[in-house]
Amino acid sequence: MVDVHAKISLTGGSDFWHTPAVAAADLPELMWTDGPHGVRKQSGSSDHVGINASEPATCFPPAVGLASSWDPELVEQVGVALGEECRALGVGVLLGPGMNIKRSPLCGRNFEYFAEDPLVAGELAAALVSGVQSQGIGTSVKHFAANNQETDRMRRDSQVDERTLREIYLRGFGKVVRKAKPWTVMCSYNKVNGTYASENHWLLTEVLRDEWGFDGVVVSDWGAVWNRVRALRAGLDLEMPANAGHEREVREALDAGEIDAGTIDQAYGRVEAVVRRAQASLADAPEDFDVDGHHALARRMAERCVVLLSNDGVLPLARETRVAVVGEFARTPRYQGAGSSRVNPTRLDNALDAITALVGHEVPFAPGFATAAGQQLADDAHEQAVAVARDADVVLAFLGLGENHESEGYDRDNADLPAEQLALLEDILAVNPNVVVVLSNGASVLLPFADRVRAIVEGWLLGQAGGAVLADVVYGVVNPSGKITETIPRRLADVPSSLHFPGDVSGVRYGEGLFVGYRGYDASGIYPAFPFGHGLSYTTFGYSDLALAATDAGVTVSLTVTNTGGRAGREVVQVYVSVPGSTVVRVPRELKGFASVALEPGASARVEIAISSDDLAYWSARDQAWVVEAGEYAVGVGASSRDLRLSGTVAVAGNEPVRPLALDSTVAEAMQVPAFAEIITGLAGAVFGEDPDLIRMMESIPLAALAGFGGQSLDEVQTMLDQVNATRS
Ligand code: GLC
Repeated sequence: MVDVHAKISLTGGSDFWHTPAVAAADLPELMWTDGPHGVRKQSGSSDHVGINASEPATCFPPAVGLASSWDPELVEQVGVALGEECRALGVGVLLGPGMNIKRSPLCGRNFEYFAEDPLVAGELAAALVSGVQSQGIGTSVKHFAANNQETDRMRRDSQVDERTLREIYLRGFGKVVRKAKPWTVMCSYNKVNGTYASENHWLLTEVLRDEWGFDGVVVSDWGAVWNRVRALRAGLDLEMPANAGHEREVREALDAGEIDAGTIDQAYGRVEAVVRRAQASLADAPEDFDVDGHHALARRMAERCVVLLSNDGVLPLARETRVAVVGEFARTPRYQGAGSSRVNPTRLDNALDAITALVGHEVPFAPGFATAAGQQLADDAHEQAVAVARDADVVLAFLGLGENHESEGYDRDNADLPAEQLALLEDILAVNPNVVVVLSNGASVLLPFADRVRAIVEGWLLGQAGGAVLADVVYGVVNPSGKITETIPRRLADVPSSLHFPGDVSGVRYGEGLFVGYRGYDASGIYPAFPFGHGLSYTTFGYSDLALAATDAGVTVSLTVTNTGGRAGREVVQVYVSVPGSTVVRVPRELKGFASVALEPGASARVEIAISSDDLAYWSARDQAWVVEAGEYAVGVGASSRDLRLSGTVAVAGNEPVRPLALDSTVAEAMQVPAFAEIITGLAGAVFGEDPDLIRMMESIPLAALAGFGGQSLDEVQTMLDQVNATRS
């Protein structure tokens, strides 16, 4: 039996990365470490901020890349590999996936997050969690919640209206909790509507546990706890890293009766359960993992992540094309983000070597610009690059953001590529119009040159195998199938959140509400540079024979996809839903389903996508519930949010609650209730006569006011209401 005082030790870390052993319970210590796209196990003793050198591990594509695959099955395989590496390295909980919504391209950590849309973020994060946990290793879905910027992240108050919070910023987390049952959830640093996430009872207990049924551990982000007593009361179980002062305060609060032993027992029990589950898997863990096999998986995954944004037909290149390669990123790849997720890769492929191998000879190369702080280049690096580009058939310009341009801990203040890269591109275009841009960046960048180059390959960040994959895509060894999961804007001012990001010391107001990402662009009619869900292929696809069916579980969408081009390829089919006659505010359309299909030239396949009622529902603040509205739903199916090839409508019965009529119900609402219609017509007629314009004017009048106009007492009207409500189920 473990004394409650001894249990307090397990409500906090013993150092930067471990939960403590509890001798009385024969419970060993356990290592919790990052994540998310590779195991970052610090070598030797941890430093005070946990970012010195780490053990070699496979660096898979960060979430920005994984998400562009729209491929839960393959993402789950990456999760399995991550679990295997955790076991070999003695790590019990992998701190990830990160899945905060990409509210602005300026967020320094967008590379570590999946999407601007909660459905695709939730599905892919759930796949990663399932994969890791299938190996008996825990995950920590983060950062819960509304941590959508790095600016002032440890204090800033995210001020989000309830419906937006539910439908956009919490929805993906809820999907992961229900679908993949993560062992732990990591609370974020920031406040959520005035209360720090680490001590936000509504968030950590009422929503996460009471509504979603989460029964695991809530662990803090590192340093996110201001007061462990308040945090434990709110539903947090584990403060990381170690904090002796906070632990002492819990002991004092227990002795003073300011926190009950049950709360400590509960937190202890949850953490103990995670430790025992993980230790059971670590007990018989192998000493190593399949380094080559995991690298091959990282490569297969990266192949699915590359997005072909534009192509006038110049790609894929023939091997004999005389190319010039410009840009240090070709030689020194940018393949992951900076900060806590930084992995020490088992190997690192670069595009330049891969191109050399593909074409069988060295190709002209010039770095052109520095990609990391302190990098020394020749004074005439710019001129050398222009000279190398001048006579080539095609120039491959590897541009992007260096590690110091975007990172955990700070946001960008613009969405531009570095000026020296843009200047070099201009000078190259001046001597050779045949330019293909290949990008390496963790978040959207503005592409003012998009109409002046022959193709753009968006590589995002692809992990350790990405360099070779970029070469394979350029030369057609791989047919790209990735689709962007964040809108690429023409101008920063077009970003729906741009007026409200990143806020100030008083907080950050999510003033765009539901209209974040493509939802906002579609509502404002602004056409971005490249819309959410966009991605080209070296083949083409036809869509036909759409069928829609409403079922008890939601709506089933089926259609035929045909490869109408000349080479094998994979298409990501997206389903967007609108509710034209809705009685509540709606965005023009929302992603509600997706599936991918691989097809040989000329082949067709029937694709079926099931949309659950949960995903069709909106959050009704007045009902304090998820509600599926009854009515005609418009369904658009296509290759991106702006390339809808088929459309149809389907009647949905919905599950709207019977809302009793009340004195503040309007005439229009009362008229919807047949039993009340004749009463209200008489009442209204007495006031407004038969004039249709006057009748129309009265529709928005509350019954209480109408009673006053008509000389009825409120009691009389209330009695009528009670009688009518009693007849309604
Ligand atoms: C960092 C990050 C979090 C990470 C943790 C441990 O501040 O916000 O994602 O898992 O601390 O490194």
